[in-house]
Amino acid sequence: MVELKDLLTGGQVQRVTRWSEDVLHQPTAPIDVFDERLHSLIQNMFATMAAADGVGLAATQVDQSLSLFVFACPDDDNHLQVGAVINPTVILPEGNKRHLVSEDEGCLSLPGAYAPLARPDQAICRGLDHNGEPIEIIGTGLLARCLQHETDHLSGMVFGDRLSGRSRRHLYADHDALAYRYPDDWPISPKRDFDPSRHA
Ligand code: NI
Repeated sequence: MVELKDLLTGGQVQRVTRWSEDVLHQPTAPIDVFDERLHSLIQNMFATMAAADGVGLAATQVDQSLSLFVFACPDDDNHLQVGAVINPTVILPEGNKRHLVSEDEGCLSLPGAYAPLARPDQAICRGLDHNGEPIEIIGTGLLARCLQHETDHLSGMVFGDRLSGRSRRHLYADHDALAYRYPDDWPISPKRDFDPSRHA
């Protein structure tokens, strides 16, 4: 058995894929082998998420079409929850327990842009941990949104797919305005603070 804490360090930062690249828009394959290769992928994903200053990262965002995401995200009590989930499914509240909250959402694969999106304020995520053991994460606050966003990624959906056409156009305009800050291999190359051509 490998401990989660041993996967939080030692990874190599990978390039984050961008919306419109095929890997982000197709369903992923389930994982059934829990070996060193998987653990090394998880390490790389934690390193990449930290370098990109994200709260969640799907395997498709490091160009692997596999059903896996990592997260390091605060819940409603501002308690940081950290983990890796393999082959996840999300269960959302129904009936009078279902409350939608609209908050700004962003994605490391469309860096710099945010749009309000209504989602249920709670989500339970079930799947397997890095050793293949069943886990359940109860998500509230930002973590509820993160669990839904990352599980969407693994079915080939990005949050822009959930927006109206008008809202999506605003989102792309915001991204285009800030795209110069993100080199193509970001976060291997760091974010630029300003556009040299505009400040020459
Ligand atoms: Ni995303």
